[in-house]
This record gives sequence, C-alpha cells and structure tokens, in this order.
Amino acid sequence: MNILNEQIRALLEEPDMIACLSNLSACIMDSWEGLNWAGFYLVKNGELVLGPFQGKPACTHIPFDKGVCGLTYTSKLPQRVDDVLSFPGHIACDSASRSELCVPVLVSGECIMEIDLDSPVKNRFGEEEEEIMLQAARDIASASLQHHW
Ligand code: SME
Repeated sequence: MNILNEQIRALLEEPDMIACLSNLSACIMDSWEGLNWAGFYLVKNGELVLGPFQGKPACTHIPFDKGVCGLTYTSKLPQRVDDVLSFPGHIACDSASRSELCVPVLVSGECIMEIDLDSPVKNRFGEEEEEIMLQAARDIASASLQHHW
C-alpha cells in the first residue's frame, strides 16, 4: 500500500473527528509537492461546510449545485480538474489554484464529506493521485462508522 495511505490509516485511529481530519489535511499537504490547499468539506444541513484544512482561508459554505465540490457531491464521483480556468463555475478560493482533485467520502452510498486538493500547477493530479485519495476516502468512511462521526 502507498505510504501516504498507510500514514492516513494510522492517523484515522484518532476518534475525535476534528482532531483526526486536521492531521489528515496536514499529512496530505506535507506529503505531496505542489499543493496550495488540502482539506475537507463536510455535508451539514443540506450544504457543504468547510472542515479542517491547510492553505489559505476558503469558502465556508458551498451549495450542492456549485463548483467542483458541488459536482463531487451530486455525482458521488471523484472530480479531477486539469485546468480550473476551463471549468465553468469553479469557485476560486485562492487565485493561484490551477488544478483540483475532489473525492467524495461515501457511507452507505451517501456522501458525508469530501477531500479537496488544490494545486497551483495545471494537470497536477493524475490517475495515481485519484486512486490514493479514493483509498483514503474508503478508509475515512470506515473510520467514521467505527468512531460514530
Ligand atoms: N474550488 C472549489 C472550492 C473549494 S476550494 O478549492 C478550497 C470548488 O470549485 O468547488
């Protein structure tokens, strides 16, 4: 298994959600070069609400029908955007961002949160990064059931 996924699994032993997700965002930011934002959006009261993250201050509330994060929620599929300037409706939290990877965390088929990564480099995220974040999302989903998040 990828070393980042192993580190994420170890950090997922922390039962407090905020403490745990804070460390996950720091771990991802620290492990991968070329990121300017790494963090979580949590599904709360019919919208996406900013969770623990590393990077510049970001949008605190995102409706399900807006942006890359909204599309990730409605499609329940990872969204890999090679060039955010070509994505209609992209929400720019940091004007330096050029590519984005957003992955849903699904529990019993429902999206409960999202992992969102931004890079100032176009095409930063490929199939390998998507696979690693999909594995992370599966592990977060298991931990959320185990810890009753
Ligand atoms: N770019 C996202 C918004 C979140 S920030 O990237 C942290 C979007 O279009 O939904």
